[in-house]
Amino acid sequence: MKVLVTGGAGFIGTNLVRLLVSERSDWNVEVLDYLTYAGNFENITDLVSDGKVVFHRTDLCDQEGLQKVFGSDGYDIVFHLAAESHVDRSLYAASTFASTNVLGTQQLVDCALATKCKRFVHVSTDEVYGSMGPNDRATEDYPIVPSSPYSASKAASDLMVLAAHKSLGLPAVVTRCTNNYGPYQFPEKFIPLFITRTMNEERLPLYGDGMQMRSWIHVLDHCRALLSLAEHTVVGKVFNIGGPLESEIPNIHVAKKIIELLGKSEALIEHVTDRPAHDRKYAVDSSALTALTGWAPQVLFQQGIEETLSWYQEHTAWWQAILSGDYKQFYQQHYGARHQS
Ligand code: NAD
Ligand code: DAU
Repeated sequence: MKVLVTGGAGFIGTNLVRLLVSERSDWNVEVLDYLTYAGNFENITDLVSDGKVVFHRTDLCDQEGLQKVFGSDGYDIVFHLAAESHVDRSLYAASTFASTNVLGTQQLVDCALATKCKRFVHVSTDEVYGSMGPNDRATEDYPIVPSSPYSASKAASDLMVLAAHKSLGLPAVVTRCTNNYGPYQFPEKFIPLFITRTMNEERLPLYGDGMQMRSWIHVLDHCRALLSLAEHTVVGKVFNIGGPLESEIPNIHVAKKIIELLGKSEALIEHVTDRPAHDRKYAVDSSALTALTGWAPQVLFQQGIEETLSWYQEHTAWWQAILSGDYKQFYQQHYGARHQS
């Protein structure tokens, strides 16, 4: 089985590639990643050096480059994860999000169609549904009402993939997962940002009242769901992927849990100006996926957050290298005026 993982040097991609190498050792796994600020070749260097993974540094927006990677034989399975993924950055760089997430996805679809790919797993997000009502848990037919340039670009790419299935027969499924956490997550995202800043005893910029609700899923549960769909024959459908019910938690409780586990003070929390159009709640119903493949999330939040904390404690060099680079500039631009002083 010849498999391509786009975005395989990013957070979820790295975890997926590692899962495939360890649990599908007879598969030929290749990674396509442009190594933007969010991609880190170090995450998979060992696998590339050991010949377990072939790496292509290619931009999704470079059509010729993509065609070269696909060659004439292409891939049996494409897991499409490469994307611009951070909501806050999309407020400053919407065009980059549109290029990579919409145009880049379409160009990948073109290559998959031209080479008769057998499974195309398009990895999308629950954010396409926009903010959910306080008592809602979105099913796959929930209205698509994205709030940010990021989620709008993901919604557009979902529709492009589903249209390619409908009109041209692309054997695709679209997945919409909730918020992931776990090892290798870039520390601009809420959980690793708050872990690393708590470890450094730095102020924790909590948006608004902190009562926004997310459904946290351990990244390995997400990756197992993607694998279960890649090995199924269903096509042309959307599947939600959500965390365990007990992991639907307001941000402020997540922040307090991290502080408690690290033995620091809640005074580190600073309520800062809210994210514009901040979605109040995400939560999905993933019973369609469970009914089809038997998949269900296994990692409870308490266990997952403890393991994630330990990973960041054991990999300080990994995140310190990121935080001391270009990220400093983004932090200043985005949070500078939000902090009190
Ligand atoms: P990430 O930002 O950690 O990784 C994205 C990867 O894509 C990086 O390695 C980056 O170098 C690569 N990339 C970006 N632009 C590219 C381009 N033009 N060409 C080639 N490669 C490019 O993101 P993540 O959190 O791992 O998310 C992966 C996917 O899962 C995304 O599609 C995201 O929308 C989706 N998703 C993420 C979450 C989450 O909680 N993180 C939840 C649901 C869905
Ligand atoms: O729901 C799935 C989505 O989850 C994915 O599609 C996105 O790629 C991923 O980035 C994530 O989006 P969020 O916007 O939900 O994640 P983020 O980590 O940015 O924020 C999580 C929550 O924490 C959100 O309610 C905003 C809040 N937050 C975030 C940051 C970075 C803060 O309060 N302070 C912060 O500094």
